Amino acid sequence: MTGRIRACPGGPLLVDGEVEVTTEDGVVHRSTRPVSALCRCGASGRAPWCDGTHKLLDRRPT
Ligand code: FES
Repeated sequence: MTGRIRACPGGPLLVDGEVEVTTEDGVVHRSTRPVSALCRCGASGRAPWCDGTHKLLDRRPT
């Protein structure tokens, strides 16, 4: 099966199936969840995974 990645509007990338992410520091992060959320706002406290912080960023005054 081909992997699927969906962009969540204003939020993370949702990756179907097991995933392995190697961050720039060389650390390998693995998830066996059915769907994993990858942070793309850069503000997550548990990068590379989304922790929901992007929701707070969206509410900042512009
Ligand atoms: S995308 Fe959710 S915390 Fe960054």
